Amino acid sequence: MSWTRKHLLDIQSLSAAEIETVLDTARSFKAVGERAIKKVPALRGKTVVNLFIEPSTRTRISFELAAHRLSADVINFSAEASSLRKGETLKDTSRTLEALNADIIIVRHSATGAPHFLSRFLAASVINAGDGAHEHPTQALLDVFTIRECKGKIAGLNVTILGDILYSRVARSGIWALTKLGARVTLCGPSTLVPKVFEKLGCRVVHDVEEAVREADIINLLRIQHERQRRTMFPSIGEYTSLFGLNKARMAKTRPDVLIMHPGPINRGVEIDSSLADGPQSVILNQVTNGLAVRMAVLFLVNGGSEASLAQ
Ligand code: CP
Repeated sequence: MSWTRKHLLDIQSLSAAEIETVLDTARSFKAVGERAIKKVPALRGKTVVNLFIEPSTRTRISFELAAHRLSADVINFSAEASSLRKGETLKDTSRTLEALNADIIIVRHSATGAPHFLSRFLAASVINAGDGAHEHPTQALLDVFTIRECKGKIAGLNVTILGDILYSRVARSGIWALTKLGARVTLCGPSTLVPKVFEKLGCRVVHDVEEAVREADIINLLRIQHERQRRTMFPSIGEYTSLFGLNKARMAKTRPDVLIMHPGPINRGVEIDSSLADGPQSVILNQVTNGLAVRMAVLFLVNGGSEASLAQ
């Protein structure tokens, strides 16, 4: 067991042993989720706040359910209905939540570093649920959990991340997690969205989709992050789909046991053919299911939970 952190702010600063501790803890919580009674008292009496200043379906709902499963009290903060609309700062809002005895604050924000900023002055634990184009640590953890569950290992696997890498926090966290655990990572997409500078993170960068997917054990697709792009990065969606979309013809040239992943939300018919998203090699909904166990593990660990207390 290797975890002494109060916050989960990124994957970049985690060791492989810390990542493996989260994965092993999540495996125990997945087993809890398969019991008739799916609730444990690990966070009884604790208050968890979902402070989402950007839209979310999967992350917010799975953190909420994870906190409920751990018996915490949960507050869902709606930015639209809050005093942020009246000019209150993120610092004052989060201090207000802490004054109401929040123990764990889960934050999603469009600004890179927002969770790190909060962690500098809050006594509560802070969990990064996505900050700008920087990191989305729990997405990377649930992705590597799903890969390990399906393939039995991470080290030595060929993982291709295909799509808008430049604006993707999922890609950055994924690259850190996969390379720390010994996977070989290939990045592919238009050169404007997948610049060669990513090779400095220990990845292979290619701009030919068929080359990128040919030897892949995993293809992780990313949508175009229109909300973060400051200018048009390619001529048209139609051209993107024809050059980089995963379709049946391209799929026919991959390994027979390749797995298809996507963090969601999916833009069907753009980065992936709809039938492939729903096909037998897709583990997209397994990722969602595993996100619950992984987020239970993260809440448990930042609250000081240990293997010994989990066994009780
Ligand atoms: N994958 C992910 O972060 O999805 P949401 O934006 O729906 O939370």
